[in-house]
Amino acid sequence: MSNLFDKKKNRKNSNSQKWDRYHSRDILPMWVADMDFESPTCIKNSLRKYIDNGIYGYHSEPKDLRDILKKYLKSKGWNIKKNWIVLMPSVGASIYSIYNIIPKTSQVIVPTPIYLNFLKAPKHLGRKIKELPMVIENGRLILDFKKLLSTAKKNSWLMFVNPQNPGGTVYTKKEIRKLSRIIKEKNITVFSDELHCDLILQNSSKHTPLASINSIEKNVIAFYSASKTFNVPGLSCAFAVIPSKNLRQTFKTNAEGITDDANITGLIALTSAFNKGWKWRDKLIKYLNRNLKTLLISLKKHKNANPIIPEATYLLWLHVKNPNNKDLQSHFEKYGVGINDGAEFGKKDHIRINFATTYENVKKATKRIEEALINL
Ligand SMILES: Cc1ncc(COP(=O)(O)O)c(C=O)c1O
Repeated sequence: MSNLFDKKKNRKNSNSQKWDRYHSRDILPMWVADMDFESPTCIKNSLRKYIDNGIYGYHSEPKDLRDILKKYLKSKGWNIKKNWIVLMPSVGASIYSIYNIIPKTSQVIVPTPIYLNFLKAPKHLGRKIKELPMVIENGRLILDFKKLLSTAKKNSWLMFVNPQNPGGTVYTKKEIRKLSRIIKEKNITVFSDELHCDLILQNSSKHTPLASINSIEKNVIAFYSASKTFNVPGLSCAFAVIPSKNLRQTFKTNAEGITDDANITGLIALTSAFNKGWKWRDKLIKYLNRNLKTLLISLKKHKNANPIIPEATYLLWLHVKNPNNKDLQSHFEKYGVGINDGAEFGKKDHIRINFATTYENVKKATKRIEEALINL
């Protein structure tokens, strides 16, 4: 029986950012973080109902949404109040909003490598940041806790991504507790981007929301979305959970009139996905694991590639030996694969490969990636 995710979709000329970059070239796009899979039927049905209504006026939020989100976080061990939720159009835009509300005199610590908007936003807004290089421990890319403790000034801010992008790390409960002690000691405010938390690949890993540690709850602005897990980033919807009344008010006031509301299609998709999408997600995880395994087996043959095995996400982060200092994006494109150059995330001589595509594409890609590695 064919697998649901094997379904071939021609995404060329379908307004796909990922595929349009290479519209007339034979390059497999494995860069921006969206998947080549249709969203689950529950989402498509809910959207169809909305579209068929035919009136697309200013919207209010789905009435059961906040209950669903509260239940969602409770299942992860975090008991929230419904009024802590702030709906936003995206996490990407919210990163800019956050940099905007950080007092100019505050130290902002950004562990690198990191999702690119955390580096683009401060440049754009003329803000200084303190980069904190992450370390590899037991094959995992993690925060340098010791350095964080010695670097952080009192009342500083921290940009924290868990599961991590690009490294795919899922911080253990022990690590989250360790971080929470530093947060408490230095009174750090944390932007905790937990967008990838429902894409855990390994049964042994479990996501712990940072703010589920009660003692630091008020120091955290946490972000979630259905966009990565259910492949709906084009529908513009995410949500923040901000327990501190002061922080919540500051964040909302700053966003008002500048950042648009979450899109109604995104809100409908989020409600539907968190209600009825989990079985589909479980099948997705199996499929992604098979893709990952295939990629890793192929990469193992190449000494000049050193991947970090992701505990979550459909993104593979690897160090590549680049003796001739090649432009990695162009080099891999020459061999027919569109990857992200690690420099975008703050780390040279690394690449990120998005493996959320059909198994057939992954097999094709492994040959091309191998060729590219041999010819570095
Ligand atoms: C860690 C992380 N944060 C934020 C974003 C952007 O999310 P959004 O599509 O909600 O802007 C991404 C997208 O890849 C991401 O990986």
